[in-house]
Amino acid sequence: MADFQQIQTELLARVGESTEPRSVLRAPELRELYSGIRDANDKAAYGAQVNELKAQLEAAISARESQLAEVDLEPIDVTAPMDTNAPVPSLLPTEQGTIHPLSRETARIIDIFARMGFVAEQSREIDDQYHMFETLNFPKGHPARDDYDTFMTVETDADGEPLIAPAHTSTMQNRVLKKYHDKLEAGEAIAAIVPDRVFRNEDLDARHEHTFYQLEGVYVAKGVHAGMLIATLQEFLQAYYGQDLDVRVNPFYFPFTEPSFEFALSCPFCKGQDSNCKVCSGEGWVELLGCGMIHPNVLKAADIDPSVYTGFAFGCGIDRLIMMKHQIEDIRHLESAKLDFLEQF
Ligand code: PHE
Repeated sequence: MADFQQIQTELLARVGESTEPRSVLRAPELRELYSGIRDANDKAAYGAQVNELKAQLEAAISARESQLAEVDLEPIDVTAPMDTNAPVPSLLPTEQGTIHPLSRETARIIDIFARMGFVAEQSREIDDQYHMFETLNFPKGHPARDDYDTFMTVETDADGEPLIAPAHTSTMQNRVLKKYHDKLEAGEAIAAIVPDRVFRNEDLDARHEHTFYQLEGVYVAKGVHAGMLIATLQEFLQAYYGQDLDVRVNPFYFPFTEPSFEFALSCPFCKGQDSNCKVCSGEGWVELLGCGMIHPNVLKAADIDPSVYTGFAFGCGIDRLIMMKHQIEDIRHLESAKLDFLEQF
């Protein structure tokens, strides 16, 4: 019977410690005690003893269950400052993260355009030459295709042309025009922006990265003219920089806009005073964006009748916008993952 007492003590102890005390009733030791009744000399006395143990266990289980239900949780003050002396300090964050300047500024830009009625669309990181060139009035063999330093992949599309990493967000123009085509019939304007990543296989310097961000803008309706393009961009730049700026608008060339323009901002670093300035090379101006009136062939490629509708488009370097705003002298800082740089924002 020593065995019996030992089992009894152990099972009761187990109930006292368990977080699921009822499971002790399924313990193999208890089952064995029950099957022992068959072989016991005094079956009645032995049976009574086992039943007595069962009753004790039931009582202990109820007690343990109410004890578990009662555990007093200490109230947590979620607004309390972080306890740096807490037991495992190495697992606690000792510094707060910050939102990356590219994300923060892109959100601001989207917000400004949203208030002007533009919807935001996403670009893609692999595209075909049909969207990047063909629909943008660069026929095959057009020399301006080479200006885009495009990364080609080894994969090809149905025409056997290499797929590419888009070198400008204009690669989305045709899709955006088609997607919102119905708005024109409803007498509304197509007004969309595409802020996203683009890639160029070019030499890196303080102003050039192989991977950077652009903001495409597309606006089409009846009677759209170049004055509306300039006014929209000036409105945006004023809202983004919170001040009037020295902006220079020069004629330019893009196959997909006619006429085309280039916007430059006066260099905030040297104001044209330093012929060795890393940012403007002493020119006093930093090219910020390209824009123009959408070429009739681009509208036609999206089944829009250029004799009825006109529109403007612009493509702006988001990194450049941010650099000029925060006087960052080297574009490469933005993707450098240097904490001492990023923590300033
Ligand atoms: N996609 C052009 C570039 O990256 C910019 C641009 C966009 C120009 C839209 C005109 C209209 O250089």
